[in-house]
Amino acid sequence: MPSLPADIGEQLLARARQLAACSDEDGKLTRLFLSPAQRAASAKVAAWMGAAGMAVRIDAIGNVIGRYEGEHPDGPALIVGSHLDTVRDAGMFDGLYGVLAAIECVGALAREGRRLPFAIEVVGFAEEEGVRFGTGMLGSRAIAGTFDPAWLAYRDRDGLAMGAALSAYGLDPHGIGEAAKRRADVLAYLELHIEQGPVLERQALPVGIVTSINGSIRAEVTITGLAGHAGTVPMDARKDALAAAAECVLAVEARCRAEPGLVGTVGSLAVSPGAINVIPGETRFTLDVRASDDALRRQALDDILAAIRAIAARRGVRVADRVVHELATAPCAPWLMRQIEGAVVAEGLPPFRLPSGAGHDGMAMIAIADIGMIFIRCAGGISHNPAESISAADAALGARVLLRVIADFAPASAP
Ligand code: HGY
Ligand code: MN
Ligand code: MN
Repeated sequence: MPSLPADIGEQLLARARQLAACSDEDGKLTRLFLSPAQRAASAKVAAWMGAAGMAVRIDAIGNVIGRYEGEHPDGPALIVGSHLDTVRDAGMFDGLYGVLAAIECVGALAREGRRLPFAIEVVGFAEEEGVRFGTGMLGSRAIAGTFDPAWLAYRDRDGLAMGAALSAYGLDPHGIGEAAKRRADVLAYLELHIEQGPVLERQALPVGIVTSINGSIRAEVTITGLAGHAGTVPMDARKDALAAAAECVLAVEARCRAEPGLVGTVGSLAVSPGAINVIPGETRFTLDVRASDDALRRQALDDILAAIRAIAARRGVRVADRVVHELATAPCAPWLMRQIEGAVVAEGLPPFRLPSGAGHDGMAMIAIADIGMIFIRCAGGISHNPAESISAADAALGARVLLRVIADFAPASAP
């Protein structure tokens, strides 16, 4: 069994802190797709991949890919990855912890000159969160060959289209297809990630085996009322777009509270014109609805949009909505869960299985490969928040479990 440095946990935390400096916002961590911060973070990750013995390339959508050849060059690869982008005002471990740990696992093999019967590709996905353009998993969907060119027209909050942002970053928006891999190229997809929830901590366990990744559906809603003078328009004559949106937000909460396992979030709401003495003429907000059951999730969104349209009709305002992102629940492969479980037990821990409420790139990668995920606990289950934290001991343990899975990996026998 190849070995990681004794202080690997501290090393991983130190690198996470270094990457946290690559931010688009002063004083907080926000690293968005195709931003200067992404370029800076990608350069650091590429350098670490190279130092760990990998050949490194940036693919057509900006994914950073390090390849460690196996005994037979150019063979199919075990892909081990996670994402390099973050949400706004993020924690520093969501996504990139898994990339950093995967780099260290390859480094351990390289230091011993060990070649496996297959190649390993470590992937730092350029975009997973969907924060800048609404739809997410763009890096993994490009690799899975499921990138939809219609997304190139999606615009960010400044009105810049994704296609133009790709060109400005130095990528060809019409060349995304070149990133696609074939199923024959990929033995499996593995991801190590923080749990982003409280389950492992409540179980007093440092590591867990993921059984499936809950599906999600996201929509954008625009409510158009009538801007007016805050002092002259009587309350019963208003077409207040923000009051309507506020009622919609509560309708989302009520519908999602009504069903166990269903969650719904309005994560952003923009008001215009946004002046203290003007009745809001327009609001734009987002919907994020999740559940493990695909039909239940879709029904919940349909019910929510019907409720929003009824609120708009009653208030005399107009509403436009569109679904911008939809990914089905992704089951982890039993043969991969068994191999992860073996590694967890070999580390002297009880195997604990749990579903993921958070979305991950495996939801896209499942189009071309079976998927497996390893979770490590995070303090208080807090994530998508600068208070997100992991211990050095758990960071090290997660990397050791991942290294065991990689070193002992047995590709699925042909069906
Ligand atoms: O939204 C999610 O669940 C993930 O963090 N992209
Ligand atoms: Mn996230
Ligand atoms: Mn993540």
